[in-house]
Amino acid sequence: MRPRPARIERLPEQYFVGLLGRVAAAAAEAGPPLVDLGRGNPELGPPAHVVEALVESARRPDVHGYAPIRGLARTREAIARRYRDVYGVELDPDREIAVLPGTKTGIVELSLVLADEGETVRLPDPYYPDYPSGPAFAGAGLETFPLDPDAGWAPHLDDVDAAAALYLNYPSNPCAVCAPDGVFAAAVRWAERTGGAIVHDAAYIDLVYDGRAPASFLATPGAKDAGVEMWSMSKTYGMAGWRIGFVVGNAEIVERINVLNDHERVGIFEPMQRATIAALEGPQESVAERVATYERRRDLLAGALAAPIVCEGTFFVWLSLPEGLTAERLLEEHRVAVAPGEGFGPSGAGWARISLAVADDVLALGVERLAEAFAGVLA
Ligand SMILES: Cc1ncc(COP(=O)(O)O)c(C=O)c1O
Repeated sequence: MRPRPARIERLPEQYFVGLLGRVAAAAAEAGPPLVDLGRGNPELGPPAHVVEALVESARRPDVHGYAPIRGLARTREAIARRYRDVYGVELDPDREIAVLPGTKTGIVELSLVLADEGETVRLPDPYYPDYPSGPAFAGAGLETFPLDPDAGWAPHLDDVDAAAALYLNYPSNPCAVCAPDGVFAAAVRWAERTGGAIVHDAAYIDLVYDGRAPASFLATPGAKDAGVEMWSMSKTYGMAGWRIGFVVGNAEIVERINVLNDHERVGIFEPMQRATIAALEGPQESVAERVATYERRRDLLAGALAAPIVCEGTFFVWLSLPEGLTAERLLEEHRVAVAPGEGFGPSGAGWARISLAVADDVLALGVERLAEAFAGVLA
């Protein structure tokens, strides 16, 4: 076989694939059952009416052919309606919305459509570990800009140099904070100053706690000129396995994503889109219930650990591990897996991300073990 093309060689180690492998290896060793709080895989599925819509649509004989490449108009209208009603943002369903098989696809494709070879993509540090894959595919350089823990993990964007694209993510994975005041306006200013595009990842937009309201980057004046937002069915409705997401906002960037879609995909199975419409337009109680569940689990963890934790949104807790405790020690000695902070960028060293997206009994056991481990080093 000839050597791999450079674009494959350039790809970084896929953090979550590596983590899953380490956790599986540890689970296979003798000892009490391992508790995995490392992975963010929603364990609460979508509400019953959404599954019903999928099944009902799949029973029709006329939905099994190729679906429209750029998504059903009804699907795009449903997400436009949600943006208008929930986030106060008007979107043109034909020009400002692209339908994708999950936002992870968008994460990579947005680097491809925004950055040429040799240009720069800027990522926040800490960042979601899938972000470096996009610049690597595009042959672009990757630079990070720090998030300031003392400013609610806000970047100082007025000090950040130009680039082809700059990624932001609030509610933040892994920092578990909502967008600090002024960050979105600073992002628009950065785009105006540099001509680069903002990519805002809103995968957790609706999972916000303590009475906070979901906030879209696109509600900021000038945001549609500055860039796009990614919106996912995975977290709001527990549909991670379904693979449906959207890139919305700037019409030129949306068009570039659609052009890529025209070449590499043939739409999304219509019954999945019908179920997506049912989720977006049907009863919304499940969203509030999901938020309440994660909030309750966060409080359980906060009450048990002898360390302050912050979790304003997402289903993660991001914390600085006390001196003497590492993710490896937690895995090997306490049989609880957390996501080691190192995988989230240079500033993640010494930190860990803990997932609340596990069943209550699993979390209870994990919290017990974490509390013991923390007490052991803090004593
Ligand atoms: C910050 C962030 N963005 C995007 C994604 C990908 O979501 P999707 O399921 O839409 O691909 C995830 C998934 O965990 C995430 O944590």
